Amino acid sequence: MKNIALIGYGVVGHGVADLLSRNADIIAKRAGEPIRLKRILTARPRTDDPRQELLTLNEDDVFGDCGVSVVVECVNDLEAAYRYCRRSLLAGKHYVTSNKNLIATYGMELTELADHNGVALMFEASVAAGIPVLRPLYKCLSSNHVTEVMGIVNGTTNYILTQMKREGRSFADALKRAQELGYAETDPSADVLGFDACRKLAILLSIAFGRYVRYGDIPTEGVTTVTASDIALAERLGYSIKLIAMGKLTPSDRVYARVSPLLIPHDHLLASVEDVFNAVSISADMAGDVLFYGRGAGAAPSASSIVGDVIDIVTNGRYNDPIWREDYRPLLPVDENVGALFVRTSPSEREKLLKLFPEGTAADEGGELGFITPPGPEAELREALRTSGVQSDATWRVFF
Ligand code: HSE
Repeated sequence: MKNIALIGYGVVGHGVADLLSRNADIIAKRAGEPIRLKRILTARPRTDDPRQELLTLNEDDVFGDCGVSVVVECVNDLEAAYRYCRRSLLAGKHYVTSNKNLIATYGMELTELADHNGVALMFEASVAAGIPVLRPLYKCLSSNHVTEVMGIVNGTTNYILTQMKREGRSFADALKRAQELGYAETDPSADVLGFDACRKLAILLSIAFGRYVRYGDIPTEGVTTVTASDIALAERLGYSIKLIAMGKLTPSDRVYARVSPLLIPHDHLLASVEDVFNAVSISADMAGDVLFYGRGAGAAPSASSIVGDVIDIVTNGRYNDPIWREDYRPLLPVDENVGALFVRTSPSEREKLLKLFPEGTAADEGGELGFITPPGPEAELREALRTSGVQSDATWRVFF
């Protein structure tokens, strides 16, 4: 019998507790012994909770209990999670977290601390919730040089963009629904401003390239300024707008990374990733392109990855792959990107745009014009638009 403790009893914490009881039989079989939830540390214990006898407000009931060997943490607050993680590792308890902010911010330090104390720190659920992507990346693809990672890694924004396109919901309405479904962060600005995706990308790239990528270095734009007109015009032109996180290793061994809305052609696999689903595409020199797809947020998918980590710890003990290396180099500036641009403007700008870019494509919708430039160096395209005096209401990158 292995005893574990849970810290944080919100949407994901409940999902973990439910999964441990619902699938107790298969979990015991795979782990080789039953896994028992012994304690739940929560700031808001409810008297009507069916797990009432497990709830505690006292951290010492978790960290001071030598019968608890694995701590699972599902809290949102970064500094609280950092303190719990340190305390757990120092107490010789393995730690499993879904907290991407914790790993993107302190991953390297905490991995070293875990190594030092002979315990595991695992965080599969921190990126793309229910999709197994980190372990396949640093285990199954470990013989490859990874050259590019690109994907949709925030369920909330993908849900919002899909609802705006398919159901004609407003941004605010779609966000409210995502919150009700338990997809969004406690403070949803982390989702809609792109920071959540940015932290997940930093974790993915650090693992993929074996080089520490600081999330604060990644140029990040969210979806708050994407309008229903942008979505409709993009559709007319044969594209879907997605919040895309991407990073690549250039031939000069530099990393280029960004999070931003991107127009994806309808025949591209990522264009069909809708609602809360996420997808991560990895380009590797031997395996080629590998695509991971599944539910990127929500209680059950997150719990699936978290409990998978717990079973891994129980069966394999400590194993922290050396994924965070202090091999830091600044990222390439984002304006060195080569690609096309989409411009939303007034139909009166059509002639000016076609004169500037005779090979561009245009579409009208609802009294507005959408125009896609031919591909070129992004900085040059933006400069050409600026000097020609085209009045643009929005400019988004186009997949190239
Ligand atoms: N708020 C996150 C998302 C939850 O929407 O993707 C999963 O990390």
